[in-house]
Amino acid sequence: MTPTRTFTLLDENSQLLCELPVLKGTIGPDVIDVQALYKNTGMFTYDPGFTSTASCSSDITYIDGEKGILLYRGYPIEQLAKRGIFLEVCYLLLYDELPTADELTAFEQNITMHTMVHDQLTNFFKGFRRDAHPMAIMVGVVGALSAFYHDALDITSKKDRDLSAIRLIAKVPTIVAMCYKYSIGLPFMYPNNKLSYVENFMRMMFATPCDDYVPNPVLVDALERILILHADHEQNASTSTVRLAGSSGANPYACITAGIACLWGAAHGGANEAVLNMLKQIGDVSEIPKFIARAKDKNDSFRLMGFGHRVYKNYDPRAKLMRATCYEVLEELGLHDDKLFKLALELERFALEDPYFIEKKLYPNVDFYSGIVLHALGIPTNMFTAIFAMGRTIGWIAHWDEMISDPEQRIGRPRQLFVGATPRDLPPQHR
Ligand code: CMC
Repeated sequence: MTPTRTFTLLDENSQLLCELPVLKGTIGPDVIDVQALYKNTGMFTYDPGFTSTASCSSDITYIDGEKGILLYRGYPIEQLAKRGIFLEVCYLLLYDELPTADELTAFEQNITMHTMVHDQLTNFFKGFRRDAHPMAIMVGVVGALSAFYHDALDITSKKDRDLSAIRLIAKVPTIVAMCYKYSIGLPFMYPNNKLSYVENFMRMMFATPCDDYVPNPVLVDALERILILHADHEQNASTSTVRLAGSSGANPYACITAGIACLWGAAHGGANEAVLNMLKQIGDVSEIPKFIARAKDKNDSFRLMGFGHRVYKNYDPRAKLMRATCYEVLEELGLHDDKLFKLALELERFALEDPYFIEKKLYPNVDFYSGIVLHALGIPTNMFTAIFAMGRTIGWIAHWDEMISDPEQRIGRPRQLFVGATPRDLPPQHR
């Protein structure tokens, strides 16, 4: 990237400290390249939570948080969600361009051929309690994939990286469904190669060896859309975690596991589970004002889950699409009067009219409505974040791949403002 202008840093006496290049992206804010700052001034930048820091350059996903715009490789999320083919989006994120019809068929076949997991992987489940949280099992079992597949671990080889990507996209749904089956004490279902990616996942979740499962096309479309909406979101916490883990040259399956661990938190992917629990806790429309008041109270740790976002200061475009999907799914299932959905709509209305939420620009995010759709699909609440992980796996792997092939990539190693003890000697009795 060639700098377009320089940013001049002066000291308190207006003396020149240093000049820093300003880099221009294709869209979005310019960035001040501070790489030479420490060398030239002996100072670091300080930015807890990275609110003003671009950690890398990327050409995968763009967000305009003020306008509520989300683009994957330049394509608006609304258009991709309408087409509704998750594997097409995976191809786009991984290989930069939309596939031709033949390329998509070959990609789908390739994924299908990798959906089974090594039979020994099933042994790992037995070490977990049946009531373990699915995300705990995901961390363990996806992490365990790093002990398999030694045939393709040269991360400098694009061919090996692609194979790891295909394996992860293919196997994560199988592992998610196994987590569910294990938790309810039912046998694991093998993948079925005749089905599409999403149909196969639903069958692995809901069929048993005694009873087959015929997926409902409306529900399949809804899940395709959920996965598309979760596929990528530029340098969010879990993706940054994957990049940081990968920057040391770590095993790709271990890096994705680091992303899963980060996603689990309630401020991130764990919010979808937290939203449903919150709606159940609120219970009735008449209770909404009480909970809104709690969310605004600085002395109360309660937050309105599914509301607010670091980047969006406008309606999250994914939440809009998710709300529309909610209507479709509930209509299909004859649940027009779904109590949780009505409660969510009222809660949204209350919050959007409240000066606290207006001033702080807090809008519903993707997690606000996704739980209601997943609940209607028959997916238990504690599985919601695992479904998010299934959708986000492609984003993690696309960013990991981009980082490894970036010539500017170096090990991620932030510095700190040290506020601890200055040098001192051990007391004599401890020497
Ligand atoms: N309810 C009540 N107040 C809130 C909320 C909320 N959901 N979100 C933010 N605020 C307030 C917060 O108290 C703060 O107030 P003040 O300026 O007076 O201290 C102000 O708004 C800014 O919030 P912040 O926590 O400093 O903002 P952040 O960018 O660090 O955090 C967030 C973003 C998403 C973690 C936060 O909005 C939140 O905790 N939301 C609820 C959890 C949630 O829905 N997470 C899913 C995010 S989208 C999907 C994903 O990324 O996985």
